[in-house]
Amino acid sequence: MNPTDTSHPKIPTTHHPVSSFVLNRWSVRSFSDQMISPTILDHLFEAASWAPSSMNEQPWVYLYGWRGDALFETIWNCLLPGNQPWTKNASVLMLCLAKKNHASLGKPNKYHLYDVGAANQTLLVEAASLGILGHQMGGFDNPKILEALNIPNTLEPAVCLALGYPDTADKLEEPFYTREISPRTRKATEMFAFQGKLPETDF
Ligand SMILES: Cc1cc2nc3c(=O)[nH]c(=O)nc-3n(C[C@H](O)[C@H](O)[C@H](O)COP(=O)(O)O)c2cc1C
Repeated sequence: MNPTDTSHPKIPTTHHPVSSFVLNRWSVRSFSDQMISPTILDHLFEAASWAPSSMNEQPWVYLYGWRGDALFETIWNCLLPGNQPWTKNASVLMLCLAKKNHASLGKPNKYHLYDVGAANQTLLVEAASLGILGHQMGGFDNPKILEALNIPNTLEPAVCLALGYPDTADKLEEPFYTREISPRTRKATEMFAFQGKLPETDF
């Protein structure tokens, strides 16, 4: 399956021109059996490391397992039920964590989760350029994963992330099949970008 096929329902038609680097990333649910190689995974982590971060703190920490190993299963067991059926075929499952404090200042870093989001997006866009797709999930049991993975309280879980090569939607059960073939939608830019002053509306 070619995830960047422009006739694929997940590759949108946009109102303004947007590069294929951005448009080819989407949140996949159907994963093929093909495993990501360790070399490619290192490539993706390196890409993540080139994300910007407050004071170049780079507060991201990734803890991951490969399909078939104990850590994959532990993370999978901490996902909420709606995320478990389709993630079982991912090549890699990871917990994306953020260091709560600035290493240099020893004080709370209010941008820690923001910066992990930037790193994840950078990783995912790079992955899409290699034909690999991911799916971030806030749907996991936070207390359970902290305990199961023995996470120190200096780190805060941001999301779990499933990564792999995409496969066809027809191997998914409902409701995931329908979600996998539904077009992606976005707000029009006029709804969130304003020149001069904010409109008199409730946000
Ligand atoms: C912080 C965050 C949490 C998310 N949590 C979940 C989740 O628990 N389960 C899920 O199926 N998708 C989850 N998603 C995926 C979003 O639903 C998805 O990104 C959004 O619908 C836009 O679709 P797209 O990524 O294909 O463009 C999450 C995404 C983000 C960024």
